[in-house]
Formats: sequence, structure tokens, C-alpha cells
Amino acid sequence: MCEACEDLIDPKETELDAVIARHVREKGALIPVLQKAQEIYGYLPAEVLKHVGRGLRIPLSKIYGVVTFYAQFRLMPMGRNVLRVCLGTACHVRGGAKVLETIEQELGVKDGGTTEDQRFTLEIVACIGACGLAPTMMINDEVHGRLTAENVTEILSKYE
Ligand code: FES
Repeated sequence: MCEACEDLIDPKETELDAVIARHVREKGALIPVLQKAQEIYGYLPAEVLKHVGRGLRIPLSKIYGVVTFYAQFRLMPMGRNVLRVCLGTACHVRGGAKVLETIEQELGVKDGGTTEDQRFTLEIVACIGACGLAPTMMINDEVHGRLTAENVTEILSKYE
């Protein structure tokens, strides 16, 4: 194969084609293929959904129905930092809802949303296993505890 042709080959698309080929004859192939596509691309861009639809011969309207029904699928890319705010029992009892409200106001996004500048994706979780530090949140792999409406803003400012 010539060098110019190699440049035209998209390795992600090649990988997705292999996934589609593996599942094309299966009943219920759509969800596993979409899960794999999301693993490959990080989210599900419109072009990828069309490609999956063509490959599995499933109408695009049905695919959108599935990806908008299940919370696991993302139609937008993740932010550079994933912010998980805990609203488990311990965190809730110690003011987690107030902390969440401050974060939502500060970033202008709700659960599952990504800020316009792609700085944060916000997710609400049930427990991050640090109940002794409640209320808590995780930013990427770092746990932050004993949060208040005041200190949370300062913590957010440390992440670009
Ligand atoms: S309930 Fe929040 S860390 Fe466990």
C-alpha cells in the first residue's frame, strides 16, 4: 500500500468496522456495537452513529432512540476533567446538595453535562468510598472531602 493511501486510513474507523463485522449477524447487536464505538471515540459523534446504522442496517432514528434513552451513551465529548460529586447518604446528610448546587452554578452545567470550554464534565454519583470525609467529590482520580459551598470554588479553580 502506498504512503498516501495509508494516510487516508482512519484506524478508529477500521476498528469500528471490525466490531460491526463481528456483530452484524447477531440479534441485539446495536448496544454492544455502540458501547464499543464509544470506547473507541470517547463519545458518539453523529458521523459514527450514521456509520453504525449503515453497517448494521438499522435506521438512524432507532439509533438515536437508543443513545438518548440510555444514560451510558454520550453524544458530546467528555471534558478535560471529570468531576464526580457524591450524593450518597453520608454526603447528602452533610450538605452534599448545597455543594452540588454551588458547582452547578459555578460551571453552568447539570448532571451529565460538559462545560462549553470542555473544562469539566459533571456527574453525580452515589458513593466514592470516602464517607468519613463527607461531603466529597472526585476530580479525575483525586478525592476532595469536607467540602463547603465556599471551599469548592477554590478547588475547581485549580483545574484547567
Ligand atoms: S456517601 Fe459520599 S463518599 Fe460515601
